[in-house]
Amino acid sequence: MTPHIRAAKGEIAETVLMPGDPLRAKWAAETFLESPRLVNDVRGMLGFTGMWNGNEVTIHGSGMGMPSLSIYANELISQYGAKTLIRIGSCGAMQKDVAIRDVILAMTASTISTPSRGILRELNYAPCADWTLLKAAEAAALAKASNVHVGGIYSSDVFYDERPDLTEQMTRHGVLAVEMEAAELYTLAARHDCRALAVLTVSDHLLTHEALPSEDRQSSFGDMVEIALEAAFA
Ligand code: HPA
Repeated sequence: MTPHIRAAKGEIAETVLMPGDPLRAKWAAETFLESPRLVNDVRGMLGFTGMWNGNEVTIHGSGMGMPSLSIYANELISQYGAKTLIRIGSCGAMQKDVAIRDVILAMTASTISTPSRGILRELNYAPCADWTLLKAAEAAALAKASNVHVGGIYSSDVFYDERPDLTEQMTRHGVLAVEMEAAELYTLAARHDCRALAVLTVSDHLLTHEALPSEDRQSSFGDMVEIALEAAFA
């Protein structure tokens, strides 16, 4: 047990998928895993462990934003031995050639701040995905005929951003999309010798202001779960 996870030792798999929303964790576990069992519900943050193609998998919510993800990822890694952590979530596109529903595999995650800033201080550390996961996820996404982009994203501390100038600079520098968790996940994974990746679907577009219709959210989310599972066990 940890302050935020009530699972007993051994109840968390080495491979953990992390959606932001705990109810998405429940849906994914019930839809894709065999015999999923609830292993955490502290503060309503749900985690489930079950089997996929003969492999043990945990699907555990991260909450929104890097401080929340950092709590769960730290405890999953240091107290439960998680080794492969894959974020599955949504993002806002920042490039004209990226469309709603497209899949983005985050090769790098730029930030202006993460919870790790306190220890990295003046170092502009470059958080990056695990190459083996990234490669396998690209193959899995292409096999699904998903429109997939591999490249840099931005992990923001704010959803309601008041820096249009910063967004403009990121668009200019080829950043594909914005979300709120990947940079800290990648930094923690690097620090603890784990593998990490963020598989994202575009839910809204910062340039065109389009948004993914709510009836499409479940199927996009399901595609990400399958891409993440195939990448983890490739
Ligand atoms: N900003 C931050 N995070 C997001 C967004 C956004 O526009 N869309 C989906 N996740």
